Amino acid sequence: MATMPVLKMGTLSLSERSQEVTEFACSALYDLILNLKETLKKEGGVGIAAPQIGVNQRIIIFGFDSSPRYPNEKPVPFTVLINPVITALTEEKTELWEGCLSVPGLRGKVPRYQKIHYSGLNEEGEKIERTADNFHARMVQHECDHLDGILYPERIVHMRDFGFESVIWERVYGTPYKG
Ligand code: NI
Repeated sequence: MATMPVLKMGTLSLSERSQEVTEFACSALYDLILNLKETLKKEGGVGIAAPQIGVNQRIIIFGFDSSPRYPNEKPVPFTVLINPVITALTEEKTELWEGCLSVPGLRGKVPRYQKIHYSGLNEEGEKIERTADNFHARMVQHECDHLDGILYPERIVHMRDFGFESVIWERVYGTPYKG
């Protein structure tokens, strides 16, 4: 069990397409997922993708009960999702401010599909199938983007909707920024 440094925007491997996982229920995969969980917990994030700790494999983990980083959002069940596939269930996209552990201190307003179906496997190789909307759907889309080498700033429509948390927090959340 170990926490890993989170790679930051500008690291070339964050822009690569990650590879499918082919072996399940093995110690290498269990160790990697444990490292992801520990790192996510230490960083206080709501989701993380394996390439963010330097492993270009198609693995994401996400979920939270409550998060000071996203004070207005409802809980999302904690999930390990491997080789995920997303299908949009609406054409409609909604915009919301996102952050990313690889882009610390910044937020940007990003359009995402409002409702999706997603599937994938857990670490045992068992199938996961869900329909998700709102913030849950957004998290899955954000994390899956990491597996295709896309960071959220690439999806911002207007660059005026990209800024430092310390500047935009009160505008976005209506509460003073506490760092
Ligand atoms: Ni991210």
